[in-house]
Amino acid sequence: MSAGLAAADRLEVAPDGETSPWRTELDRLWARGRAFLGTDLAIMGGAMTWVSERNLVAAISNAGGFGVIASGAMPPGLLAEEIAATAALTKKPFGVNLITMHPQLTELIDVCTAQRVGHVVLAGGIPSGAAIEQIRNGGARVVCFAPALVIAKKLVRMGADAIVIEGSEAGGHIGPVSTAVLAQEVLPHVAAVPVFVAGGIGRGEAMLSYLDMGASGVQLGTRFVCAHESIAHPHFKRAFIRAAARDAMPSPQLDVRFPVIPVRALANPATERFRAIQREVIDRFHRGELSQKEAQLEIEHFWAGALRKAVIDGDIEGGSLMAGQSVGMVTREQSTNEILGELIDQAVATLAGRACRFGRSPQFFGSAEGQGPDG
Ligand SMILES: Cc1cc2nc3c(=O)[nH]c(=O)nc-3n(C[C@H](O)[C@H](O)[C@H](O)COP(=O)(O)O)c2cc1C
Repeated sequence: MSAGLAAADRLEVAPDGETSPWRTELDRLWARGRAFLGTDLAIMGGAMTWVSERNLVAAISNAGGFGVIASGAMPPGLLAEEIAATAALTKKPFGVNLITMHPQLTELIDVCTAQRVGHVVLAGGIPSGAAIEQIRNGGARVVCFAPALVIAKKLVRMGADAIVIEGSEAGGHIGPVSTAVLAQEVLPHVAAVPVFVAGGIGRGEAMLSYLDMGASGVQLGTRFVCAHESIAHPHFKRAFIRAAARDAMPSPQLDVRFPVIPVRALANPATERFRAIQREVIDRFHRGELSQKEAQLEIEHFWAGALRKAVIDGDIEGGSLMAGQSVGMVTREQSTNEILGELIDQAVATLAGRACRFGRSPQFFGSAEGQGPDG
C-alpha cells in the first residue's frame, strides 16, 4: 500500500482521490502534537545516546516525524558540529536532548540557542528553573520528562512547554511505573501543555490508544535502532532482531544499601559480570576492605563507556545493550520511512476497523482534544 510515499503521506489519499477519513481522524487526534513539533506526524524519535546522531535524526525528520539528537556526554563544540551536520541533512524540524547533570549544561544550551534549535528536551533528572528559563529566553521550546503526576504539574509551573511521560517498558534509564499506569495517572490531569507518551510502543494500535487517552503524540526509541539509517553496529542490530520482549530486563541490584540506577537492556554476559562484581564488592565491604562510598563508586563505574562499546564497537557481550520491551517487535532492518509508515498504517487500519465494528463515521469518535461539551 502506498509504496514509495513518504510515511507522512501514506493513506492520505484513498483510491477515489479523496483524503482517507481515517487518516484525517488520526491527524485530528494528534493535531496538538503536530502543531507543537511543527511536523506531519506527532512521533518523536526518542534520543538514544550514540544511536541518535545526524543520520537517524535527519531520517526521522525527513520522513515526517521529529528526530532528536542525543547529546549524551558531548562537549559543546561537538554538539555544535552535530547540530550543523543534521541541519545539512534535513530542512525539517528536529530537537536536541540534553542531560541535566552535564557539567556544561549552560554552554550546551547556549549552543542550541546559537544554532536556533527549536526544541530542547531535558533528560536525566528534574531540570532547574534556571535551565528552563535559559532555553525559553533563547527562543526554544522546552520538553521535560515527568515520572509522576506531581512532577508533571511542577514542571508545567516551572515553564515546561511539553511533557514526556516514559514508562518502565522503555529502553535505557527507567523509572518504576509502567507506561499504561503513568498514562492514566497523568493524561487526564495535564491539559495545559501537550503530553507525549513513551515506553513500550511498538505498533500503531498502541500509539493510537494513547492518543485516544488524550496524549498529543508519542515517543519511540527501540523501534528505530534497526533503521537502515541508524549507525548502530550490525552486531547491535542483530541482537535487537533476535531478542524477545522478556530479554529486555532492568539492571539487577543485589543489595538495597548499594542502589543501582535502573537501566533496561538486553541481558548478556556483561549483565552476569555486573552481578558478580556487585557480589564481590559487597563482600569486600563486609570484610572492611572498602567503605560504603568506595563500594558504591565501584558498582557505578561498571557500566562506564559500555553503551558506546556495544553500539559503536559492536561488542554485544561486554557492552550495554540498552533496549525496551518493544524490542520483540523489531524483526528486521527497515528504512525509517517504512517504520513510520507501518505505525501510521496500523493506527489508520484500527480507526477504520472500529468503524466497521460499530458502523460509525470518523467524526463520531472523540478525543480529549477534539471532544465537544457533549462528548
Ligand atoms: C539505546 C538507547 C539509548 C537511550 N539513550 C537516551 C538518552 O541519551 N537520553 C534520553 O532521554 N533517553 C534515552 N533513551 C530513551 C529513548 O529516548 C526513548 O524515550 C525510549 O527508547 C522510549 O521507549 P521505547 O524504547 O520502548 O521505544 C535511550 C533508549 C535506548 C534504547
